[in-house]
Amino acid sequence: MRSLTSLPPPVPVAVLVSGRGTNLQALLDALRDSPLARLVRVVANRPDASALERARRAGVPTGVLRDPGGREAGELMTALGDAGLVVLAGYLQRIPPAVVARFRLRMINIHPALLPAFGGPGMYGRHVHERVLASGAAISGATVHYVDEEYDHGPIIAQWPVPVRPGDTPETLAARVLEIEHRLLPLVVLELARRGVPAEPVRLSAAGSAFGAGDKLAVEFERDV
Ligand code: GRF
Repeated sequence: MRSLTSLPPPVPVAVLVSGRGTNLQALLDALRDSPLARLVRVVANRPDASALERARRAGVPTGVLRDPGGREAGELMTALGDAGLVVLAGYLQRIPPAVVARFRLRMINIHPALLPAFGGPGMYGRHVHERVLASGAAISGATVHYVDEEYDHGPIIAQWPVPVRPGDTPETLAARVLEIEHRLLPLVVLELARRGVPAEPVRLSAAGSAFGAGDKLAVEFERDV
């Protein structure tokens, strides 16, 4: 058995946000006492993002980019510091190529639909769920994927399905997906932190059925490494 002193230090995690920050909150809650990962900074591209307040309340350092478009690679790089893992949690800007390269396989995003469908430029917030409903799809869900130079495009790490119910509106569907996002994102962050930086993109798949039964969600990843 390893002694406590031989455990590696927690992976420093930085989170990029643009808005309300409920996914950030899920991470703040899940990582609070984790030996695997620690939230070290929250960076917003706008000073009025209420996510910043959540970080301050939790005592996590915050930063605001001068360029709201997040186009200055140098500024973003400095803001992210020595993060071992970067999480885009409702961050609405494209990441400059130099930053994508620096954080290769260490930068992830959460999207409120099952990519590669219903993603890309303009597909954020309510627009995503409107398009899912208009398509007639019976299933939507949440996706966590690596970040590359295009919106919602890098290799998929994990997905969790959510039923589209008769009578759903963009709001009811968004709420159902969001609940799953809050469970999926911390699980993925902790699992990636546990594995360390991979040589190849990681794919996490659910053990057993992808849907939970009753009020219990069977989110659990197969441990193949
Ligand atoms: C989430 O639906 C996430 O999937 C998407 O933006 C939304 C952010 O919500 N990328 P919040 O700011 O975490 O509440």
